[in-house]
Amino acid sequence: MAIDLCPLSLPATADSSKFSDFGREVKNIDPGALSRQEFEQVKEALYRHDVLLFRNVLLTPEQQYALTKAFDPDAESYGHGNNKTGTNAKSILHPDLKTIPRVPQVQLIGNGTVYDHEGLAEARLKHPSHTTFHKTRVSHEDETRGVTRFYRWHIDAALYDLSPPRVTTLYGVTVPSGNSQTCRYDDGTGDELLVPLGTTAFVSGKTMFELLPAELKSLAVRSRVKYAPHPYVWMAPAHAMSTGLGIETEGLELPLGELPPWEESRIKIMPVLWKNPATEQLHFQVHPCGAAELLVDPLPSGANREGASYPDGGHITDLKEVRETLYKMQRPAIAPAFVYPHDWSEKDLVLFHNRGVLHTVVGAFTQDQVRVFHQCNLAASDDPAGPSMEDVEKWCQI
Ligand SMILES: [Fe+2]
Repeated sequence: MAIDLCPLSLPATADSSKFSDFGREVKNIDPGALSRQEFEQVKEALYRHDVLLFRNVLLTPEQQYALTKAFDPDAESYGHGNNKTGTNAKSILHPDLKTIPRVPQVQLIGNGTVYDHEGLAEARLKHPSHTTFHKTRVSHEDETRGVTRFYRWHIDAALYDLSPPRVTTLYGVTVPSGNSQTCRYDDGTGDELLVPLGTTAFVSGKTMFELLPAELKSLAVRSRVKYAPHPYVWMAPAHAMSTGLGIETEGLELPLGELPPWEESRIKIMPVLWKNPATEQLHFQVHPCGAAELLVDPLPSGANREGASYPDGGHITDLKEVRETLYKMQRPAIAPAFVYPHDWSEKDLVLFHNRGVLHTVVGAFTQDQVRVFHQCNLAASDDPAGPSMEDVEKWCQI
């Protein structure tokens, strides 16, 4: 029997023409007890639609781990390595992640103090806030009026040594109610987006690529990103841009010599565009905060060189230029019309294609607004595939 897929309800701000394939609610099925055949349909649906929502789900951490692992049976450890972020106090991820002792691949995230939860006597959770990460912040006065920002647009990935997880599962155990907030971009565009309290916002990497003009598609299809070693430690002293889409270039990154031990061979160099395993379409998948260098291949022979960036290829090592180049390509896709902000209800289970979307935490809670989520993703057994030779030839025809 085919699984039941219904479009997600989109906010009024969304350009529905860009969401025709994006997001589905999966109905009348228990994601904790899928048959082999049902799972294969869910997997196909995830790659085709990027975000799947199951409502009113009861799911143990063991079931969540099993569901996540089914997407990549050879994957074993949490996306950042089991307990690695917990023991590395210098990482910017350190305060955000607490492991469920019984199932260390499942993290407890949220806000407020939680008692006696899945083997944890007491856990103090803190919803990440732009006020500790961005270079600038909204004023206290605006904050009390419900103005907020995107925290950090990202892919769930260690970006060093380990491969980016295929899927992330997010399960809402306790979801506080509260007024919606206004997410402000504060980048001079006047862009802002009305969002539910504590939303997780998603954008499609496929849309990010499709929105680009031809010359930037040509650049993207030929480019790879070299990430910094231990990028979350490297970027910890730095500040993010007001859109949460990358880091301001102020020279604050930790010098490479002051990072925990690292090896050149474990550094991640990944294509800018990742090929969707079900649709074969290209998704623009770059974690802008961790990017350190760009490697650009030359145009294929016979391609028109006019108007092309780096027709003979290039190696961009200037951090400001790397960031500006990526920002120019990624910023269009986080405009309000292309953002899906999920409005969480308790017992929602969201699966997202971590190799097909970017996402971010949004908003701010008060201390007494308790939010409890279980999150799981697994460092993948392989790296994502990049564009084929045919893709390069196709997208370099300017
Ligand atoms: Fe995430």
